[in-house]
Amino acid sequence: MLVDIIAGARPNFMKIAPIIQEIRRKRAEGADIGYRLIHTGQHYDRNMSGSFFEQLHIPDPDHNLEVGSGTQAEQTAGIMVGYETLILHTRPDICLVVGDVTSTMACAITAQKLHVPVAHVEAGIRSGDRTMPEEINRMVTDAITEHFFTTSRLAGENLMREGHSPESIWFVGNTMIDTLLANMDRFFAPPVWEEKGLSEGEYFVMTLHRPSNVDEEEQLKKLIEEIVRSSQGLPILFPVHPRTRKNLEKLGIAYPTLYYVEPLSYLEFNYVVRGARAVITDSGGITEETTVMGVPCMTLRNSTERPETVTVGTNELLGIDPDAIAPAMERLFAGEWKEGEIPELWDGKTAERIVARLLELA
Ligand code: UD1
Repeated sequence: MLVDIIAGARPNFMKIAPIIQEIRRKRAEGADIGYRLIHTGQHYDRNMSGSFFEQLHIPDPDHNLEVGSGTQAEQTAGIMVGYETLILHTRPDICLVVGDVTSTMACAITAQKLHVPVAHVEAGIRSGDRTMPEEINRMVTDAITEHFFTTSRLAGENLMREGHSPESIWFVGNTMIDTLLANMDRFFAPPVWEEKGLSEGEYFVMTLHRPSNVDEEEQLKKLIEEIVRSSQGLPILFPVHPRTRKNLEKLGIAYPTLYYVEPLSYLEFNYVVRGARAVITDSGGITEETTVMGVPCMTLRNSTERPETVTVGTNELLGIDPDAIAPAMERLFAGEWKEGEIPELWDGKTAERIVARLLELA
């Protein structure tokens, strides 16, 4: 059985790493399974892509479609054309896509149109907010997917509500957490840790990249102002996504306790997250990692496709109104943040369950 594994953007890499490892392990044991790793090139910088391959021991991609930057439509089209050529040359038995980025949707459509069945890892999650490109990617991908691997029971219920049969849905857990648990011992401090004299529990980590927060200058400025104002003078470490950098440079926002850094590598980023007083973010994946590491997380979004990080984990949705930040910070400093628990099946064995199921399908 030949599995095409698709990866395109930063949040994909930690999700595919354990699946590839497990396929290789099964193959070494004699199982009839192989893979072809296809990087779409949606993210291409060393610090958005290359360092993840190195640190997570992901083998070099067999193909790179090199789509690069562009509008959503340009990226989608470029990936589809490139991937179609690959499939027409060598047909896989199944196309495995992960997450919700442009590459996920583009490859799922291309494969299914050529009658290659699609398996979607992290299927069925929904924010209900169709202004997010990721929500469109999730809906379109799942509409044509044949095999669903889910991170929560709720995701399976969403899929059934959309008409998918229970037999096609496999609640397996979270491969992003497989990677987190497998690499915790390897986390290490980035240079900024020493340079700024950071110490455990005495700083914040912040990440922002959603168009709703960073594309509008006033919104970005107010959010940052409020965060700095209510953080009681603790340092704030801000690894800046390329999308956010452009506006930040224009606005010239600077505070003595706000430290901008380039996007960090996986092992460095999770080191600083693990030691943070709290994380302030608009990412989805980070809310899962903070949940598992028991770090308080404030999400600057109105909705989440990962509600278990709120109902079970350490995450809270503050919305995008900057005025919501100060009261949440007060509760944090008063020691009133919830402890949280680890969601069901986020146990580090998800890739094993996925590959076992793929072998059954073969
Ligand atoms: C994408 C994903 C989002 C994910 C995020 C994490 C979609 C629709 N969105 O958003 O779900 O949370 O990645 O990073 O797929 N750029 C670089 N270097 C790179 C990659 C991008 O400079 O290696 C620049 C691009 O030129 C562009 C901007 O960053 O200006 C945004 O990149 P893009 O891939 O369009 O989407 P993201 O906002 O990163």
